[in-house]
Amino acid sequence: VWTPLNFVESQLEKIREKVGGKRVLCGLSGGVDSSVVALLLHKAIGDQLTCVFVNNGLLRLHEAEDVQRAFREHFKINLVYVDAEERFLKALEGVVDPERKRKIIGNLFIDIFEDEARKLGEFEFLAQGTLYPDVIESVSFKGPSATIKSHHNVGGLPEKMHFKLIEPLRELFKDEVREVGFQLGLDEKILHRHPFPGPGLAIRVLGDITRDKLDTLRKADYIAIEELRNHGLYRKIWQAFCVLLPVQSVGVMGDERTYENTIVFRAVTSLDGMTADWAHIPYNVLSRISNRIINEVNGVNRVAYDISSKPPATIEWE
Ligand code: XMP
Repeated sequence: VWTPLNFVESQLEKIREKVGGKRVLCGLSGGVDSSVVALLLHKAIGDQLTCVFVNNGLLRLHEAEDVQRAFREHFKINLVYVDAEERFLKALEGVVDPERKRKIIGNLFIDIFEDEARKLGEFEFLAQGTLYPDVIESVSFKGPSATIKSHHNVGGLPEKMHFKLIEPLRELFKDEVREVGFQLGLDEKILHRHPFPGPGLAIRVLGDITRDKLDTLRKADYIAIEELRNHGLYRKIWQAFCVLLPVQSVGVMGDERTYENTIVFRAVTSLDGMTADWAHIPYNVLSRISNRIINEVNGVNRVAYDISSKPPATIEWE
């Protein structure tokens, strides 16, 4: 029978046998999949594992610090932190088209990762958090998301590189990965994290991206997620986030007329991300999210809730 414990034990053995005395590199994003891979490898081979975390400047509030704290301080994993914020923002300057954003981000990530790998010396293996649905989707290429949006998180890295791959989660579904993560002592917060796209906030700041816009979005998004957690809703929802529109609208504050930005809050329920319904969040929670965002985030005077399902809308706005 499949149990997380059996899985972990058999994988530890397989990994040790495959790796021997060689070194393994792992790109850590802080999401569930790469986190579980990192923990599994660390348990199997200890300091023969090096993880690389690239801060692309498109992450959520406190995300980079949280990942470092969890993996370096708590789990004592060799973690190399690369601050690439400037490079990503520069490369994205003035770029509006969503697919161009994805390409630029995907390519730059590979360049930076390769540079880092070179600096860190010889690695025989690259560990990746490929899951069973990724394998199916990239083989058949039938998933709407695979054909309509160029997701770069599957198979993006290895093609140009000369690593042998280690993909211990290749046969697992997401819920099984979570069970394995739990078995390995992964924090509840990481374990039940909503999916977050590789291009990050770049595809949630609609239109061109600036640091100011990213900061505005980060604050709004943090508030929305915090309120979902406070109301016990976070885990009932597949994915929730804010989007910053490139639209200003009129408002009033005191005696003044304002002309400021609009935040859209989106929350969906789904089983696999392929289809999704907008979540029926209670009005009092929506109201709290809206009030807090408008009061606490400078430059935002309007919050809208997205009530579109997928299809025909997608989960992300770009
Ligand atoms: P859509 O917007 O296509 O999203 O309904 C379906 C799921 O995929 C995520 N998504 C991405 N993930 N790179 C990723 O790694 C991407 O470019 C990307 N675009 C969308 C989205 O967050 C949702 O979970």
